[in-house]
Amino acid sequence: MTQSCYPVPAEWAERALIDQDRYAAMYAEAATDPDGFWAREAERLDWVRFPKRIKDTSFEEADFHIRWYEDGILNVAENCVDRHAAKNPDRVAILWEGDTPGEERKISYGELKDEVSRLANAFKTAGVKKGDRVTIYLPMIPEAAFAMLACARIGAVHSIVFAGFSPDSLANRIQDCGSKLVITADEGLRGGKRVPLKANVDAALGEDAGKIVETVIVVRRTGAEVAMQEGRDLWYHDVVQAESTDCPPEPMGAEKPLFILYTSGSTGKPKGVLHTTGGYLVWASMTHQYVFDYRPGEVFWCAADVGWVTGHSYIVYGALANGATTLMFEGVPNYPDFSRFWQIVDKYQVTSFYAAPTALRALMREGDEWVTKTSRASLRVLGSVGEPINPEAWEWYYRVVGDSRCPIVDTWWQTETGGHMITPLPGATPLKPGSASKPLFGVMPQLVDSEGVVLEGATEGNLVIADSWPGQMRTVWNDADRFFQTYFTTYPGKYFTGDGCRRDADGYYWITGRVDDVINVSGHRMGTAEVESALVAHAKVAEAAVVGMPHDVKGQGIYAYVTLNAGEEGDVALRKELIQWVRREIGPIATPDALQFTPSLPKTRSGKIMRRILRKIAENDFGSLGDTSTLADPGVVDALIAGREDAT
Ligand code: PRX
Repeated sequence: MTQSCYPVPAEWAERALIDQDRYAAMYAEAATDPDGFWAREAERLDWVRFPKRIKDTSFEEADFHIRWYEDGILNVAENCVDRHAAKNPDRVAILWEGDTPGEERKISYGELKDEVSRLANAFKTAGVKKGDRVTIYLPMIPEAAFAMLACARIGAVHSIVFAGFSPDSLANRIQDCGSKLVITADEGLRGGKRVPLKANVDAALGEDAGKIVETVIVVRRTGAEVAMQEGRDLWYHDVVQAESTDCPPEPMGAEKPLFILYTSGSTGKPKGVLHTTGGYLVWASMTHQYVFDYRPGEVFWCAADVGWVTGHSYIVYGALANGATTLMFEGVPNYPDFSRFWQIVDKYQVTSFYAAPTALRALMREGDEWVTKTSRASLRVLGSVGEPINPEAWEWYYRVVGDSRCPIVDTWWQTETGGHMITPLPGATPLKPGSASKPLFGVMPQLVDSEGVVLEGATEGNLVIADSWPGQMRTVWNDADRFFQTYFTTYPGKYFTGDGCRRDADGYYWITGRVDDVINVSGHRMGTAEVESALVAHAKVAEAAVVGMPHDVKGQGIYAYVTLNAGEEGDVALRKELIQWVRREIGPIATPDALQFTPSLPKTRSGKIMRRILRKIAENDFGSLGDTSTLADPGVVDALIAGREDAT
């Protein structure tokens, strides 16, 4: 296979924070002297007490622990807000572009400090204490960042639930972490469509979750009329108005929880990934600075949603820790037209733009003109995140969006890793389209075979990380055992990523996708088991199996095989009903792209579903189904193939 490779442009090698030699030296230092390296990187933050103990970690079962900067004391909001407000109160912290063109807000660091402090005081008034959990269910409005930072300011732990999730998903997450306060909006607005957020919260709190939540704070976004429950629901503008702008940041131990973020795994229930204070912020800040080569004064735009980890680390924590001007966009790339992203780039003179390949593929197929009619001259660096970027989309991004001028950082990482792990650095790494390239400082990737044997040189295998890094998740909320079982038992002594990966002769890493039962839909992680349990919750469904299928825009689509209860008929109407059902149960991102009724599923004699076969059929690849002789009923394969064409 011929591969293109783009060398580092000379001007970049010269002016970048990190060039090739510096990358090599820093990588070596982080490996040989982690304490020295990470103590120095910790100096990027303001500490109440600078840590003496730097790295204290072991992935071994007998002595399993992950602690970074443990005796250090700091406050995340202090670092993201106050220290910049003190020096540059008028510098813009958040540029907000609303869903409707022309709607905008600019929040300076000075204003941010006041907003965050007022809300932090309002949380306290509502009875939220250090260590308590707060669920944030907000659209992409500045109040989402205020709420995150207000939690951090008083030592409360936030759990953001993406505003596209259903009442049921919201209820489960509220219950799992026991939030006593929920902050939401009357409605969200995306692409001109309204999302009934407050009504969703009301539905979520109808049952058990309602017994836990004491207060709901509601931001007025669209002005829609919503029901307010006496004694529980309060308007945001009322509560903050009553509060003072003085709220001293709570000194926090470096290993105290900062946030929980739920993510899908191979089992049915999403797990609450827990990140802590010191290591996470060092990691978010360091990666934001080096990977985007961020310079003060530049406008940084991460086009993700704050409901996902990308938004946590790069719209809010990493960017603000570095005193950046961060852009927050409420809308979608195709509203009011396909030029929206690039118009925003021009309007705010954006320097770094960071998005998921799925958005790029969707725009790419609408033609170049939407892009080329804008200037984009302010852009310096382009970023990609969330899923493998196919070389075709990469080249389009590079040539058309970046005018062959801007390096692309294809950043591989996960909710669990807190920030970037494997990625090019714009002034140091020659680029190969489709490859996340090289590990960052302190990241020790290895490829192992299914027995755990470490593979050397150019090879392909399962991606593991051999040692801890500061941004690593610390536990699964309330389930330390699940944390250990999920990540450290498949290959003992190593963190298992769940991804497959190839390494080429130049030592570049190429992520090939998940090797577990997780699918990546539009850069979002969806557990197949979650969709399956939603399907079997329907009265007519006996059994379901869900796999990923290739999808031009989404990367992967959701393909569901459904067996109905005896006497039920799988017709077009029921297919539609089931697809809508999943959408309602989990949220629009879980909507199956294809649903096939089948009299039975391919199972081994011990009853295990052979997903390999289901994946091949979903891919329309009937020629390489592999060994089907271990099936309890090999005849099922013919029935599945025969039913394939009715699936969509
Ligand atoms: O499979 C990898 C894929 O997304 C997974 C992590 O998903 P999530 O926790 O939702 O975080 C997404 C945002 C960081 C990974 O296990 N993934 C993420 N980035 C890339 C990627 N696959 C290939 N290339 C990437 N740059």
